[in-house]
Amino acid sequence: MLSSQADTGKRTSLHGHWSSRMAFILAVTGSAVGLGNIWKFPYVAGQNGGGAFVLVYLACVFLVGMPVMMSEILIGRRGRRNPVATMALLGQEEGHSKQWQWIGGLGVVGGILILSYYSVIAGWTLGYVVKSFSGAFTGATAESVGAEFGGFVGNWQVIALCHTLFMALTIFVVMRGVERGLEQAVRFMVPALLTLMVVLLGYSINSGSFGAGIEFLFTPDFSKLSWDSVLVAMGQAFFTLSVGMGAIMAYGAYLPEETSITGASAAVVTADTSIAILAGLVIFPLVFANGLDPADGPGLVFQTLPLALGQMPGGAFFSTIFFVLLSFAAWTSAIGLMEPAVAYLVEHHYRTRAQAAVIVGGTIWALGFATVLSFNVLADFTFTALPGMQGPTTIFGHIDHLTSNIMLPLGGVLIAVFAGWIMCRNSTADELGTAGNVYKLWRFLARYVAPIGILFVFLKAVGVLDTVTAAFTG
Ligand code: PHE
Repeated sequence: MLSSQADTGKRTSLHGHWSSRMAFILAVTGSAVGLGNIWKFPYVAGQNGGGAFVLVYLACVFLVGMPVMMSEILIGRRGRRNPVATMALLGQEEGHSKQWQWIGGLGVVGGILILSYYSVIAGWTLGYVVKSFSGAFTGATAESVGAEFGGFVGNWQVIALCHTLFMALTIFVVMRGVERGLEQAVRFMVPALLTLMVVLLGYSINSGSFGAGIEFLFTPDFSKLSWDSVLVAMGQAFFTLSVGMGAIMAYGAYLPEETSITGASAAVVTADTSIAILAGLVIFPLVFANGLDPADGPGLVFQTLPLALGQMPGGAFFSTIFFVLLSFAAWTSAIGLMEPAVAYLVEHHYRTRAQAAVIVGGTIWALGFATVLSFNVLADFTFTALPGMQGPTTIFGHIDHLTSNIMLPLGGVLIAVFAGWIMCRNSTADELGTAGNVYKLWRFLARYVAPIGILFVFLKAVGVLDTVTAAFTG
């Protein structure tokens, strides 16, 4: 998918370029669509009360996530290097400092931390492929799927094995170079996943409490929404779009000059958001029809879908297909999470791609044990160490909160500020290919809405703003 032919005129990437606009859109969609849409979105929406949370999430996706995505792609394409080197280069080129490279550094670390737990959950989906195939869910009840899930994650050896298998698969693809395999995987996976979700939606409309599901997802009750929930909604917007940590910047580095960044971003954001909403529409009616708890947490999708599918004719088959597709979706996202670190090692320390993939992947694998143990041996080891947290949680909860709700939005502010304030108009207009209204809107969002919005939510969630207001109003 990456052709080695040089791009005429401007800088070229060491790693080649995407062969077409479609290849790029598929790769970014592959990175964006993943566990974030199908596993995480429903459970965080469930834990944060539904409707109002979903509305804030959508506002964050379009007003903050999308302009940051466009900024990442344009920065990536202009620099054409790994995120650290690109930020250093453009920082200097725009007459500022090399120190903007730390944004790239934050992303490299963020990607490693996210993948350390992402791989564990992706491992669960692999485990569920096997379970589904063996007919474990045929004739399932709410109790049996709950017990099955509890037993599965309670056994650390089994989930460690699944995590190991998933990391091995990821290292394998990254070693071979992103171009081979990824395009094929995404080309088939995204439409297949969409189709299956629509089939499941049909089932959910017929057999679930569809009205209750819709009401939960779309009736906003702002009294249920704390600033901590707003922080989680914002974090989820960043997480699901893969923005704020340089993954999209790394992919942008391989983007041909003539491709429209706005068009590509709009396509990706639309696909990603539709899949998340669809997942919610499938899952919540089933939750309410079966007396499950919407705030059940990370196990939600692993219980609702096997339950629904277990009651359908051909359920074992469909359930197997579903978890295979979800594993694929996770796989194409995991590659993006590793890319900044791998590209960095290849460019700076003269490691081969294969060595870099093994070094980075091995580190992530080892870190993953913190999450593996969070669901069994260390499940009762909960604490509150970070600002904006909704209560004591496990080590997994801490890594998730630190990365999604703090590091990604922080990276997002810095990226938006860099593209909106540090880069000159000519550079950004040149990359976005227009100085018209779309450009003006992007610049307004990147300069004002995204940075101010993110900082405001941070300060609110941490309680700083309230303390300051109280001090002034007495
Ligand atoms: N967007 C991916 C998902 O929703 C996760 C991800 C985050 C991938 C950040 C790359 C970078 O599953």
